[in-house]
Amino acid sequence: MQITPRVFSGMQPTGSLHLGNYLGAMVNWIELQKTHECIYCVVDLHAITVWQDPDELRRAIRQVTAAYIAAGLDPKKSVLFNQSQVAVHAELAWVFNCVARLGWLNRMTQFKEKAGKDREQASVGLYAYPNLMAADILAYRATHVPVGEDQKQHLELARDIAQKFNNDFKTSIVAQGFVDGIFFPQPDPVITGPATRVMSLRDGTKKMSKSDPSDLSRINLTDDADTIAKKVQKAKTDPEPLPSEVAGLAARPEADNLVGIHAAMAGQSKEAVLRDYGGQQFSSFKKALVEAAVARLSPIADETQRLMSDPAEIDRVLADGSQRARAIAGPVMDKVKDIVGLIRS
Ligand code: AMP
Ligand code: TRP
Repeated sequence: MQITPRVFSGMQPTGSLHLGNYLGAMVNWIELQKTHECIYCVVDLHAITVWQDPDELRRAIRQVTAAYIAAGLDPKKSVLFNQSQVAVHAELAWVFNCVARLGWLNRMTQFKEKAGKDREQASVGLYAYPNLMAADILAYRATHVPVGEDQKQHLELARDIAQKFNNDFKTSIVAQGFVDGIFFPQPDPVITGPATRVMSLRDGTKKMSKSDPSDLSRINLTDDADTIAKKVQKAKTDPEPLPSEVAGLAARPEADNLVGIHAAMAGQSKEAVLRDYGGQQFSSFKKALVEAAVARLSPIADETQRLMSDPAEIDRVLADGSQRARAIAGPVMDKVKDIVGLIRS
């Protein structure tokens, strides 16, 4: 049972996917398929850490799955499945609940943001969320985790859990035949691309997010060409023309964001975009941005819709992926039980 390079990542089935999810995570997921063994998970157990309407949740699980496939994820090559169909995630998360320390979870900024002022009323699941995320990754002993910038802290926690497990159970791990005493690898974050943090179209200092009440703040992967055009036209800017150097974007969050989005859409660097548009007004730049965005996103929206017309086929893809995921995670969980001292038959 050697540690080999393996990619794992997950996305929550809540709300509709937006440009931040696409550029921050999905593009990298799809690229990594070319070079790595990849496992991609619709994390439905994470979704229920906050209230979800059951019918809406079912729809969202299928919709996210369809969007992944439409964006280029190949479910034959990579493993694509939903978390709740593989019991090891919840099982290993319990073991990690007993490895991670309260002090570690208390430092998680996403819990503080999501729980808001009324922390007493937050679910226990929301608090323990990062332990489940560590279990997702380590159930496959994954080594690479492509995510957006906002997941960095959670990934550091997963590394700490892997390390503490290896330390706490060192003797037992060696006794189980892992001579170097290492059972879990330290998973590395993969945070790359020109748009690891896509900002709101209404406020360049806030992250583009599913939970923003204004739909004008984000471009959804399901938006049609007219909606994309409207949102880009209304996107907040400043009165200055675009700078000709990247350094000129420093104190201009909205300009920086739009240039980053354009660069990512067109597969260019920010420098290259500013070489073309430096000195110009936003109006002409926005037209080009709409064109690039529509060219890239419309085929994905159309394909997602087509796939959604056959929910049974999506469920079949998830069932197949889950079976393949269980085949990898099952033996890892068996070893965890042996290492911890739990009896199994
Ligand atoms: P979530 O929507 O929180 O489930 O996030 C799914 C993936 O998209 C994660 O890897 C996030 O880091 C990434 N992501 C979410 N919002 C953004 C954003 N505004 N910019 C870049 N990446 C993002
Ligand atoms: N917490 C991640 C997010 O909100 C989703 C996630 C759950 C995840 N499990 C994961 C990402 C494992 C990477 C690896 O975006």
